[in-house]
Amino acid sequence: MTDLTGADAETDGLGADPSAAHHRTLTATAGGNSDAVPPPGCPAHGTAVRLSGLEYQQTPSELYRSLRREHGPIAPVLLDGDIPAWLVLGYPEVSYVTQHDELFARDSRRWNQWENIPPDWPLMPYVGYQPSVLFAEGAEHQRRAGVITQALEAIDQFELGHDCRVIADRLIDGFSGSGVAELMNSYAHQVPMRAAVQMCGMPAGAADTEELVTDLRISLDAAEGDDPVAAYGRVGERIAQLVADKRRNPGPDVTSRMLLHPAGLTDVEIVQDLISVIAAAQQPTANWICNTLRLLLTDNRFAVNVSGGRVSVGQALNEVLWLDTPTQNFIGRWAVRDTQLGGRLIRAGDCLVLGLAAANTDPQIWPEAHVGAENSAHLSFSNGEHRCPYPAPLLADVIARTAVETLLERMPDVVLDAEPSELTWRPSIWMRGLTALPVRFTPAAQ
Ligand code: HEM
Repeated sequence: MTDLTGADAETDGLGADPSAAHHRTLTATAGGNSDAVPPPGCPAHGTAVRLSGLEYQQTPSELYRSLRREHGPIAPVLLDGDIPAWLVLGYPEVSYVTQHDELFARDSRRWNQWENIPPDWPLMPYVGYQPSVLFAEGAEHQRRAGVITQALEAIDQFELGHDCRVIADRLIDGFSGSGVAELMNSYAHQVPMRAAVQMCGMPAGAADTEELVTDLRISLDAAEGDDPVAAYGRVGERIAQLVADKRRNPGPDVTSRMLLHPAGLTDVEIVQDLISVIAAAQQPTANWICNTLRLLLTDNRFAVNVSGGRVSVGQALNEVLWLDTPTQNFIGRWAVRDTQLGGRLIRAGDCLVLGLAAANTDPQIWPEAHVGAENSAHLSFSNGEHRCPYPAPLLADVIARTAVETLLERMPDVVLDAEPSELTWRPSIWMRGLTALPVRFTPAAQ
């Protein structure tokens, strides 16, 4: 096991250097296209790897392997704009960081790099502080997360499964006559989005539900020509309207349960947290569905008994969480004070990225190089105080399983409409998901 307290720590805290320009210049050389001469002894120089480049995006496991080889369980990396951070790669280290929120906390305002971050920095939506459950700490986090947990716990999983089946059937009806489909956008993204907004009390099929679904799609996953900022504004307005409506007429839904909870959250807090819940549910569950369909359609181990084979669908869902987990890296945690981790000195205010995919495939927990699907001890839902709140992974499982099983049941002869090697992963080091999943099948009689 790695020494988590790092008795032999190197003195290389990323925040140690007060000069922003210094780090920006010298770490740029590590990426390989600047010839600035680094000051001697700078820890990041020559070794920190850019996470924003395209190089490893198709095969991030190679990046994790080489980082582990070179740096051990905690690697210095460069985020967009060559902003330094630590990537936590080891399974014990990710567990340690997530379980010690008194040392590694969520409020990003303590970051020691803010003076280097431009307002239009691409990662701003993920690290810019918002007064939601995501960035809350201590008693305030327990209050906010407790309300979400209880509101989600009351969801009947059979009803959710039924609702997802109806959603999935309608979507499939839309393309089943054509014999071909692109499942990422027309199916995998749509099922969890619609399930999440219905869970919150938006009626299926209503015009404003459809508008919300469109705006959520644009704000979470903008395409060419979309305006994600305007769409996000409309999402906020629509959720605020939903909260006001449910305040007057509560129903059997997540929003009403949050409003009626004795913790007494304000409407503004509930709007923030509902947006967090919907966004947190949509992207990872969509990629979980699509990565599982890809595995089922490309791996011979599953091909023989795919249709209706509940056991193999369950195995595929679990294997994806180990090997192609949707949230492959999560940003993150910020060090509360100077501390040591995995032989490194982490400075107060340093940013740590949770390397969930790397941790899941840590050779320390898989010494025989066999990453198994037999248990669910992976870190795909993170760990500790801020982990994906307890009922959410179960709900995500219902949504993902229903989406996959319904598709296979409705299209038993579905096959990939491309060579497996032609499938491309989205150019993101954060989410692991395909750009498209083209399939063909026997068209249904119309
Ligand atoms: C119904 C579906 C889901 C819901 C409602 C949901 C909800 C949430 C919420 C509210 C949080 C914030 C927790 C906090 O900061 O206290 C969260 C965090 C998270 N969720 Fe989920 N989630 C869902 C599905 C998933 C899936 C499918 C994955 C990945 C396989 C996932 C992975 C995560 C991760 C990695 C975090 C960050 C935890 C951290 O900061 O350590 N979630 N989720």
